[in-house]
Amino acid sequence: MVKTEKVDSKEVGLVVGLNLFNFFLGTKDLHYGLWTDDLEVKVQNLPEAQKRYSDFLISHFPEDVKTILDVGCGAGGLATELLSRGYQVEGVSPSPLLSEAAQNQAGENFKIHHGRFEDVEFSVNVKFDMVMFSESFQYITLDMVLDKAQSLLRPGGYIVICDFFKTDAKGKSVIGGGHKFDKFQKVLKKSGLKVLEEKDITKEAAPNLDLVNQMGRDLLMPTMKLMAYTFKTNRPWLSKIFTWKFRKKLDKIDYKYLSGERNAESFAKYKVYKFYLLQKAG
Ligand SMILES: C[S@@+](CC[C@H](N)C(=O)[O-])C[C@H]1O[C@@H](n2cnc3c(N)ncnc32)[C@H](O)[C@@H]1O
Repeated sequence: MVKTEKVDSKEVGLVVGLNLFNFFLGTKDLHYGLWTDDLEVKVQNLPEAQKRYSDFLISHFPEDVKTILDVGCGAGGLATELLSRGYQVEGVSPSPLLSEAAQNQAGENFKIHHGRFEDVEFSVNVKFDMVMFSESFQYITLDMVLDKAQSLLRPGGYIVICDFFKTDAKGKSVIGGGHKFDKFQKVLKKSGLKVLEEKDITKEAAPNLDLVNQMGRDLLMPTMKLMAYTFKTNRPWLSKIFTWKFRKKLDKIDYKYLSGERNAESFAKYKVYKFYLLQKAG
């Protein structure tokens, strides 16, 4: 019998998010938005905030960059933008579902290396001007990521990291994700890479969590309440069994999405969102 590979639930979450936002807002980006003071934090402004993030990122690319490896290319939104600006871009994607979306969006000229960054093999002759991690750094094994990225760069090439990390704030965060920032600092120091730019954009990224909070409160909660009410009224016994069997999962959903704890304030406490432009020795 053919063994089917298990689907990663995080990937499914990303694809569900992509489909929802694409359907309602027409955005195919999978990264946070950058909320500058002049932009009201409401879901309708998410595409504009995401565009500001992309523009911010690209505006920091050095002039001698032509070829880019987009690691964790999502649904290909950034790659499409970069190709349209004349860069040569290849992607890395471990998710068949997202790879398909990326290929469709960015077109046939966009070469995708299928698999995790940790595992994908490149010919020794392939060298890029830049390796970019846009909100994908946190998913990749920290101990090897910078060494492998450097091995794929020409001398003097660049690494861009735009992602959030965990602070050492006391308490338990309801928001998951991110490498520990102090551990990353050690890995960065050991890598020998030169830090050309480092920017803290936590303040501009944090409002994304207020949107998540609003969606939990105004969309997810009423929908779940209505479903639970209908289920309980129409199938009381089945509803009792279901609620008992999945009580732990339901409690987790309650705490994660409906408790109101996933907000900008708690993001700013437990996470630090950083932009880095790093350079390999020439
Ligand atoms: C939040 S999305 C960011 C997508 C895109 N870079 C952007 O800025 O819109 C995270 C991406 O990281 C990818 N990813 C997760 N684990 C990875 C791994 N081990 N190696 C490479 N990419 C990975 C996911 O498939 C997804 O495309």
